[in-house]
Amino acid sequence: MRLSFRFAIALAAVILLVLGANALFGVRRDLAMFEDDMVRDAATMGRVLGPLVAETWAREGEDRARSFVSAANERETVQVRLVYPGGDETTKPLIDAQELSSLQTPGNLVRRTRIVDDGVEVEALATYVALPAPAGPGALLEIAEPLRGEQAYTRRALLSAATTTILLALLCAGATTVLGVIFVGQPVRRLVDLTRRIGGGDFSSRLDLRQRDEIGELAGALDSMSGKLEKAHNDLAKESAEKLAAVETLRHSERLATVGKLASGVAHELGTPLQLVSSHARLVVEEPTVSSEVKESAEIIREQADRMTAIVRQLLDFARRRPSSREAVDLADAAQRAARMFVGPADRTSIGVRVTKPAETVEVEADPEQLLQVLSNLVTNAVQAMPKGGQLEIEVGGGSRPGVPGDWARLSVRDEGVGMPPEVRRHAFEPFFTTKDVGKGTGLGLSVALGIVEEHGGSIDIRSEDGRGSELVVWLPKVRPA
Ligand SMILES: Nc1ncnc2c1ncn2[C@@H]1O[C@H](COP(=O)(O)OP(=O)(O)OP(=O)(O)O)[C@@H](O)[C@H]1O
Ligand SMILES: [Mg+2]
Repeated sequence: MRLSFRFAIALAAVILLVLGANALFGVRRDLAMFEDDMVRDAATMGRVLGPLVAETWAREGEDRARSFVSAANERETVQVRLVYPGGDETTKPLIDAQELSSLQTPGNLVRRTRIVDDGVEVEALATYVALPAPAGPGALLEIAEPLRGEQAYTRRALLSAATTTILLALLCAGATTVLGVIFVGQPVRRLVDLTRRIGGGDFSSRLDLRQRDEIGELAGALDSMSGKLEKAHNDLAKESAEKLAAVETLRHSERLATVGKLASGVAHELGTPLQLVSSHARLVVEEPTVSSEVKESAEIIREQADRMTAIVRQLLDFARRRPSSREAVDLADAAQRAARMFVGPADRTSIGVRVTKPAETVEVEADPEQLLQVLSNLVTNAVQAMPKGGQLEIEVGGGSRPGVPGDWARLSVRDEGVGMPPEVRRHAFEPFFTTKDVGKGTGLGLSVALGIVEEHGGSIDIRSEDGRGSELVVWLPKVRPA
């Protein structure tokens, strides 16, 4: 059962009880007053009528006194009679004669009894007044008044009290139900809903109840609890995500370390035999006595051995076992060197190479060989990205770097090649990530370049769109002119 209904029923019961009791007491009090009035009236009547009847009796005899009493009867609703305790059917009192023995003169006695009024037996109040001498001995004046009016009043009063009480109880119960639903039922329902949502793991909902009562306080406390839970939940989720990312990074670096060790081991083991193969193949090529077919085969062996040596070198670079020796390097010079290395191969594929540099010298503190390798890896990628030719531009610059304070040197390698879709951009720096065919790329170029640049305190940005060329920007800390 709903709380407001319970309140309503309890209130209705209390109202019924209190008002009902009040009405009953009221009616009883009124009835007592009513009876007091009747007794007083009857006593007064007896006091007035008694001496007169006694007087008439003495002067004109009993019959005359009786007709005097009958005359008094005609006007009033009261029934007045002359009675004797030992009289016959018509003259004996309505009550037991025994009770009248205590009656004295002057004085009266009041008793409840039943009389016949208008042919109907009704309850009545009988008052007895002893007649003074010279009336007959033991003669009494009986004044009986039916309690009809009193009973009718009781009925009316009780009916009206009952109607008022029931109406009031219904009205209060209805009002309590409506107010209870508005001020208690609905807010409590919302509280329950919110609690269920919190239990289900949804901490984002709020009640924002504007009620200034206990329910409002409870809603406020629940809202604040929900807010704290949401914060704790978010913090926990963030923390878990960070932990997961940290674990992933750790695993990644562990993998890289393992790959690095493996790579350097393999490179060391293969490097010397490959060099031997290459130099012996060269000896065969240069030997004048061997046939041209053998020379051709030896040439192929030498080429492939050189390719393998290059791969081994890249593996060694990746593992970075070579010590770096740094000096001030003019970036424009480094760019020119890299460009020169590619003028030959670029020519064959109709690629134009251009170096742009600022008027002032841009210097960085770097290992010249490593810097050349970075450039060479970037330029190789750019050339490979333009199989149908295009313009390759190496630009040297300096100045500020967006979002990072400091004085920076900038070296950008721009091509008009195939570009990189977002997926490739995301993984381009990962070791062994390549989109090239087997034998064409090891996927180490960018990872080696980034490793070197980061060791020099810089970084590499990729700006590229699928099919619209790429620009790889190398940022290195600039050496301030002395
Ligand atoms: N200038 C570029 N234009 C388009 N894609 C590029 C460019 N530079 C790099 N990429 C993409 O990034 C990938 C990784 O490059 P990365 O230099 O590390 O390896 P690779 O060139 O595939 O092999 P490797 O350099 O070891 O011979 C390339 O396979 C290519 O998909
Ligand atoms: Mg490459």
